[in-house]
Order: sequence, then structure tokens, then C-alpha cells
Amino acid sequence: MKKEDIIFFHSWFDNYVKPFCSIEGDMLMNMLQKRSHTKRVCDMVAELGSLLKLDEQKMFIAETIALFHDVGRFEQLRRYKTYNDTDSENHALLSVKVLEREGVLECLSSEERRLVTAAVRQHNAYTLPEDMSGDALFFSRLIRDADKLDIVWVEIDYFTNRDMEPNSAMEWGFPDTGSCTPGLISDILANRCLRKERLKTQDDIKLMMLGWVFDFNFTASLKIFSDQKYLERLITFLPDNGEISKVRSHIESFVADTLSQKL
Ligand SMILES: [Fe+2]
Repeated sequence: MKKEDIIFFHSWFDNYVKPFCSIEGDMLMNMLQKRSHTKRVCDMVAELGSLLKLDEQKMFIAETIALFHDVGRFEQLRRYKTYNDTDSENHALLSVKVLEREGVLECLSSEERRLVTAAVRQHNAYTLPEDMSGDALFFSRLIRDADKLDIVWVEIDYFTNRDMEPNSAMEWGFPDTGSCTPGLISDILANRCLRKERLKTQDDIKLMMLGWVFDFNFTASLKIFSDQKYLERLITFLPDNGEISKVRSHIESFVADTLSQKL
């Protein structure tokens, strides 16, 4: 892959999203947010990639994946007016459909195209397929970490300012019950990530994001999560009760133990 390919992909992306970001109404904010999320995920992948000392070719592939991982979100928002895949369709598969339909990856070799498509397709899966290996596995892991780190940032930013600008797509249309759905906390205490299909309240979304600490693939990602104080910041939006304090100390020790073993 050449630098020119990356430049072409960025300008293709900017042109592709332009009409989605020229609308009026409630969905505009969500379209703009997905556009800026994409750009930040590109930066996050570059940051992780340099910590992992990726060579230039790998950096190019990683950046392409980051740029296109959520390209299906725009059509999803326009068609279904939601981010909730369960209520609409899997946005990662939609991203792959858009890339194939538009033929945007045609300038790449078949191996590069295979890697980009595989990572985009799997970026939001609960777990990666067991038969995935080699570079496809590596790039899928990288985009999953970078994407999660930025989504947590977006979530914190949203809930910090929610009262000024409530947005039901950001809340997946879930009610604010001030509690988590029974059963989810025990999953977190057993180091299990929460499946999206089981979430029912706004607090469940925040809990799911806390559970992502169990799913980071690279120590560098967990370190960013810890350095940015994402646990402490997400916890402030959850109820102040005994169960949530248990979650907090459980995750604190998980993060501290994992970082001390790996650093
Ligand atoms: Fe996504």
C-alpha cells in the first residue's frame, strides 16, 4: 500500500460522508459525531501502532481499517435512526457492504483487501472467530481496542453534558432507571464482558463499557484506559450503591494486577 492510497481513502471518506452530514434535524449531531469518532479512531490506531512499533505497511493497513470500520454507521443512522444493532442491523456488516458496493478498496492487493475487510467485519463482534489468525487477527484486535477506547471517551463526554443536549440514539433508546439490569453485575464480577443484546437501561451501557477492560488485547490499551481515569469517570454516572462499589474495586484490582504483570 502506498501513502497515496491512504490520501485517496481519506478524501473518498470525506466525500462519502458529506451528504450524510448535510442534513437537518436530530440525526445531524449523530452523523457528525460518527465522522469525528472515525478520525479519532484513526489517531488512536496510530498511537497504539507506534507503541507496538508497527512498520509503515502495517500502519497503512491499520489506518485504512480505522477509517472504514464504521462507514456503515451513516447508512444505519439514516435508515433506522439508531446505533442499536439489535434494533436495526449489524453496522460492521453494513460497513463491509458499503465498501464492496462502492469498490473503494479496489486499488489494494487481494491480501490487503482481505485484511481490511476481515477486521472491519469483526470490529464489533462479541468475540473473534476461533479460526482467525495471523495478520487478520492482529488487525482485528487493534481496531477493537482503539474503537473501544474512543467510544468510552465519547460516552463520558456525552453523559457529562447530557442534561444540555439529551440524545436518544446515544442512549440506545433505553430508559434511565437509575439501575442496572439484574444479572449483569455478577457477569462483571466474573470478568465477563456484557453482550449488547442483554442491555436494557442506560446504566447497563456504562457497565458494559467498564467490562471492556476484560477484552483489551494490548497492555498499551489498558494502560490508556487507566491513565485516562476512564473507570473513575464512568463510575460517576452510575448509582452510588454497594454493588457499584464492588464493581469499582473489582475492576481497579483487575487493571492494577494486569498492568503489574505485563509492564
Ligand atoms: Fe463500530
